[in-house]
Amino acid sequence: MRLALPVLVAAGAAYAQCSASGTRTIQNSGDATAFANCRTFAGSIAIATSAPGPIAIDGIQTLDGNLIVTNNTNLRSISGNQLREITGTFEANDVQNLNSVSFPNLEKVDELLFNALPNLQSLGFTAQVSEATNVRIENTELQSLQGINIETADSIVIVNNRYINDVRMQLGNISTELTLEGNNADVKVAFPNLIWATALTFRDCATVDLPSLETLNSSLTLVGNAFTNFSAPNLTFVGGALAINENPNLAEVSFPLLEEVVDNLELANNTKLNKIESFPELVTIQGALDMNGNITDVSIPKLNEVSGAFNLQSKSNVESACQPFADLKDKDKIKGEFVCSGDLEVVGGEGTTPTGGSTVKPTGAASPLNVQHNALMFGLAAAFFL
Ligand SMILES: *[C@@H]1O[C@H](CO)[C@@H](O)[C@H](O)[C@H]1NC(C)=O
Ligand SMILES: *[C@@H]1O[C@H](CO)[C@@H](O)[C@H](O)[C@H]1NC(C)=O
Ligand SMILES: *[C@@H]1O[C@H](CO)[C@@H](O)[C@H](O)[C@H]1NC(C)=O
Ligand SMILES: *[C@@H]1O[C@H](CO)[C@@H](O)[C@H](O)[C@H]1NC(C)=O
Ligand SMILES: *[C@@H]1O[C@H](CO)[C@@H](O)[C@H](O)[C@H]1NC(C)=O
Ligand SMILES: *[C@@H]1O[C@H](CO)[C@@H](O)[C@H](O)[C@H]1NC(C)=O
Ligand SMILES: *[C@@H]1O[C@H](CO)[C@@H](O)[C@H](O)[C@H]1NC(C)=O
Repeated sequence: MRLALPVLVAAGAAYAQCSASGTRTIQNSGDATAFANCRTFAGSIAIATSAPGPIAIDGIQTLDGNLIVTNNTNLRSISGNQLREITGTFEANDVQNLNSVSFPNLEKVDELLFNALPNLQSLGFTAQVSEATNVRIENTELQSLQGINIETADSIVIVNNRYINDVRMQLGNISTELTLEGNNADVKVAFPNLIWATALTFRDCATVDLPSLETLNSSLTLVGNAFTNFSAPNLTFVGGALAINENPNLAEVSFPLLEEVVDNLELANNTKLNKIESFPELVTIQGALDMNGNITDVSIPKLNEVSGAFNLQSKSNVESACQPFADLKDKDKIKGEFVCSGDLEVVGGEGTTPTGGSTVKPTGAASPLNVQHNALMFGLAAAFFL
């Protein structure tokens, strides 16, 4: 009994120090040293907007809560020498002078949200953060994402980091979105292990490498990229739209295994893309097939169903390219409006009406009468093919 009391008191003191019912706010570096004996801190830690640095949250291994620093103009450095896991959000938002973030053992956070950090050039995540549900890195001066190597996530958004020129992760799948946009114009992007994803958006990238991608539950968007070629060698299914627009150097596109696109397939304003012979296995487009630019050849040999409109508008002549699609329209395999025009000065997307140029029209442009006629003929045709 004599020993028990001091032990209990010590444990109680440690408990009070190592937890907070809501958020513990740190005003200065001295406040942070109070955590030195806490292996786990239960509760959130915030750094006061006026707190000067450096703030070292040393000792804590697991932060069962959030770590938040927002709107602070004084803080230059934040660190945690033993921190391995943050079960909540690690947010640094609008910390103008922050230039050092050092968490050499951090491997796991639920959300990593970094925004408006104009002096942050590198991440001191030596052990690499490999588990996170959501990652959002915006408006930083980071030179690379070294230190972030996520295996699986709901969302990863990396935008407007004008110095990041290399993004490479072991990511195997992404259940909501992966978006890269507005980073360095030379950014090389590679997700060598990515097998399935929901929505993928790549804008303003120099190269994008997705060698293993097999399935997209939603869309793939490639806009304003600098690459000369793009290939998705293992992709068979796009569960949303596939949009490849305004990539000024793009001359070659390859989707050798793609069979189905559930929404629109759009290739617009890729001024150097002359030949679209990129979809040898594509059978079904449940939206529109919409192409414009300076296109000379289009071949989608297995195409058998377009539920929406067909639009091909080109600066070059497309009379022979149009023919197979006009035939599909005649067979009612293209359901929506049909526009196929070449030799145009101004090309437009689906829904626009080209002026001038040369136009190919389906011979039996599907009037209700023709549709009816086709339906009547179907029995005979079926009998013939038997
Ligand atoms: C940021 O902090 C300053 C003073 O420290 C305050 O005046 C301002 O309202 C804060 N801004 C936001 C968005 O919290
Ligand atoms: C997602 O990717 C990770 C990492 O490659 C893998 O361990 C996991 O099994 C994948 N999950 C699904 C549902 O595909
Ligand atoms: C996406 O599709 C893959 C493969 O078909 C499937 O395993 C996964 O559960 C789907 N994910 C979502 C979020 O629907
Ligand atoms: C492409 O898919 C095939 C069949 O699923 C697989 O064997 C191959 O390893 C994949 N290629 C890549 C680069 O992942
Ligand atoms: C595709 O582009 C890369 C550089 O972006 C280049 O190295 C490669 O040769 C190109 N491949 C083809 C087939 O043009
Ligand atoms: C293509 O370019 C035209 C003219 O600049 C523009 O009006 C149109 O919105 C662009 N379409 C797409 C899908 O980028
Ligand atoms: C269209 O492409 C052809 C073939 O590459 C080229 O000769 C022509 O100059 C291009 N026209 C325009 C308007 O870009």
